[in-house]
Amino acid sequence: MLYLWPPYYLIFKINMTNSVKFAGLLMLMTFLSCGGSGENTDETANDSTKLDTIAAVNDQHSYANTEDVRTSHLHLNLTVNFDKKTLSGNVVHDIINSSSTSEMIFDMNDETISKITLDDDTTSTQFTIGDDDDLLGSPLTVTIKPDTKKVTIYFETSPESSALQWLAPQQTAGKKQPYLFTQGEAVLTRTWIPCQDTPSNRITYSADIQVPVELMAVMSADNATEKSANGNYKFKMDQPIPSYLIALAVGDLKFASLGDRTGVYTEPSVLDKCIYEFADVEKMIVAAEELYGDYKWGRYDIIVLPPSFPFGGMENPKLTFATPTILAGDRSLVSLIAHELAHSWSGNLVTNATWDDFWLNEGFTVYIENRIMEKVYGREHSDMLLSIEFQELQHENDDILAGDHPEDTHLKLDLEGRDPDEGMTTIAYIKGALFLKTLEEVVGREKFDPFLRGYFAEHEFQTVTTEMFVTYLHEKLLTPNNITFNVDEWIYGEGIPENCVKVESDRFVKVAEKALTINSITSAKELKVKRADWSTQEWMHFIRQIPAEADETKMAMLDKEYNFSNCGNSEIMAEWYVASIQKGYDKIDPYMENFLITVGRRKFLQPIYEELAKTEEGLAQAKLIYSKARPNYHSISTGTIDEILGWESGKHLDY
Ligand code: BES
Ligand code: ZN
Repeated sequence: MLYLWPPYYLIFKINMTNSVKFAGLLMLMTFLSCGGSGENTDETANDSTKLDTIAAVNDQHSYANTEDVRTSHLHLNLTVNFDKKTLSGNVVHDIINSSSTSEMIFDMNDETISKITLDDDTTSTQFTIGDDDDLLGSPLTVTIKPDTKKVTIYFETSPESSALQWLAPQQTAGKKQPYLFTQGEAVLTRTWIPCQDTPSNRITYSADIQVPVELMAVMSADNATEKSANGNYKFKMDQPIPSYLIALAVGDLKFASLGDRTGVYTEPSVLDKCIYEFADVEKMIVAAEELYGDYKWGRYDIIVLPPSFPFGGMENPKLTFATPTILAGDRSLVSLIAHELAHSWSGNLVTNATWDDFWLNEGFTVYIENRIMEKVYGREHSDMLLSIEFQELQHENDDILAGDHPEDTHLKLDLEGRDPDEGMTTIAYIKGALFLKTLEEVVGREKFDPFLRGYFAEHEFQTVTTEMFVTYLHEKLLTPNNITFNVDEWIYGEGIPENCVKVESDRFVKVAEKALTINSITSAKELKVKRADWSTQEWMHFIRQIPAEADETKMAMLDKEYNFSNCGNSEIMAEWYVASIQKGYDKIDPYMENFLITVGRRKFLQPIYEELAKTEEGLAQAKLIYSKARPNYHSISTGTIDEILGWESGKHLDY
């Protein structure tokens, strides 16, 4: 199969002076006009629409010189050492040196490198490791020859590698075996693989991973469905992906099939819950395919990780990584699966070229997630989901506008010198999705759906910048249909534009009416709503709408009837804890503490710790809980919570 992913000349990086940049551009133009190119000459040179998309990509978060020389495939030979908390072995890069350069620059962060060899030569070539930046790591500059085809880096990861979370047996469901998982997005892959860690370069990969025999290894690749006898696992990912999507998990895993092309991996004791929860996954794939074209990745499996996983989900191709906090027992939180599945089109098939273009991944994905949910569960449900998110956008938009970086409310970001994590706000997600939904309403689905379908087809296995998308939007949708739309205001302007679609839910109006009566009743029975009468999202809305004047006795009244404090639904509990802290309702304390100690999902932790930190007493309580909980959290979560609580590592005793 041939993939039309960008030849190196379509994507090149500028981190040079202007004059060098200009000379480079001239060379590029000459190069193109001569019809010259490296690989994939025929597909691209003959396709004039592709040439329109020539863009300079400047990924400020990578040192790699991919414009000169780039990895096309990498092979990992790694042993997983749970005792030392390291991965050791080597990575073999197959390279394309289009400019006959004598230096190849990789990204690395904290690995120990013992030697680097070229092709079949066993003696080490020269290499230098540049200054270390906390966030970006160091440039690893390797001396190569113009005709070098293979660079092999022998290395060992640090036990502190931010991409890796090593769990002790007691942090797992089974409590008997250790566990390891990786998290690459955004700039963490370089902390476990020395590589060109930029989303603007796509690679295929393969791997040979050795783990203890009791454990099973899975990757974002083709996976076995049973443990191997000797702890050795071989993987292949034949479709080109950006480096942040390389992923590995190792644990006491068991597989269950959900359908012909779908299945779930998790610890044995969690498997039945997963099978029940994910019954609709195949329906979701069919819905997405009807809208945006075939699912291009073969299988779609899910791994449900231990609760310390810092995210809700991560769209590792072929194998979504997911938090167990979506296992509500009633399938009410599966929009998260629709979201990660949607990334199989937006993000994984068509990828943001830099982290400044993050909204192209996440905004598109939230939009598609909502379309999938509408198709599978109906408009009433998908409207509730979007309303919940819209409320979150309004709050965060106000907060960002009032802070130091109001420009962070632009869809197109400028994160130079900052952690790409700072761009992970509801702006990229929800403002991004609402931009597309507003366009959809103006243009009509009969035109908008084929437009998006065409966008994915024409850019599959490519990376795209915001500017490329804008050009494409004008050319393929707005100009031909004579439509004027405030594209620039949405993408390069602050806040939420006036013409944003109204996100409304009739069911939420009724919920809010009930919530208003809380102050005038003495028993929650008077609400005449049973727990099962409303969906998770209605209860979330209800909790958000509890009137400001309602005090802790009203909270106790509600808790008595609905047991929110310990109801087992993570979304409802997280909302309830925040509301309870505001009202001084402290009956939640033991449940909240238990939640904070077991769950490591940042989206839940952050608002709870923020709310606690607002008072002196709350801050002291938060610090006490955190000292017990922190060892269970991933570095992604501790990074955020340390800041909220003013926590300095080393100054406090972790229990
Ligand atoms: N790709 C993201 C997770 C991510 C973003 C990791 C940026 C690292 C850097 C994933 O698809 C995601 O958005 N997860 C959400 C779930 C979702 C339903 C909004 C999460 O984890 O909360
Ligand atoms: Zn996402």
